[in-house]
Amino acid sequence: MKLPERPLFWGLLAAAGLLSACGQSAGKYNAIDLLEGEAIYKAECARCHGAKLEGEPNWRQPRPDGKLPAPPHDASGTSWRHTHEELAAIVKHGMVPPHAPAGYVSDMPAFGRKMTAEQVRRVLTYIESTWPPEIHAQRAALFKTQR
Ligand code: HEC
Repeated sequence: MKLPERPLFWGLLAAAGLLSACGQSAGKYNAIDLLEGEAIYKAECARCHGAKLEGEPNWRQPRPDGKLPAPPHDASGTSWRHTHEELAAIVKHGMVPPHAPAGYVSDMPAFGRKMTAEQVRRVLTYIESTWPPEIHAQRAALFKTQR
């Protein structure tokens, strides 16, 4: 191999590293987060929120018992309108204040005793990874105007 190629090679490697670091915020994810997150989703969330994150039918309509069905976690739902931190708090504590009025009754379980913070982060990372770029852009814009 010719010597002058080496600096170029390492330069390209460094550039690739930089690019993937930038890509992280633009929707590229750690493979282990996604695999684990998807497995957790299937085990713990899919039975209510749907295997394809589609939610329950008529999820905006309260049931006769007054409780709401599980909303979708895909782009058609409202999850993307929350920050990652808000979603994590809902998954850990359930629909309690400040995420719901005091005394609010919901089928959404609190997973704080069952899942570690890392597992919560991973399942949410998996959910977020399924959203198209325009939803990520709208989400970013939403929180830019609110903060
Ligand atoms: C037993 C059914 C059930 C299971 C299991 C369940 N959820 Fe839910 N979830 C709900 C319901 C119902 C709601 C809507 C609550 C309401 O508004 O009253 C909800 C709401 C949510 C919300 C708030 C969405 C929003 O837009 O406000 C998040 C986030 C959420 N669930 C995440 C999860 C995750 C992640 C899992 C798995 C770890 C999970 N849920 C498992 C029933 C469930």
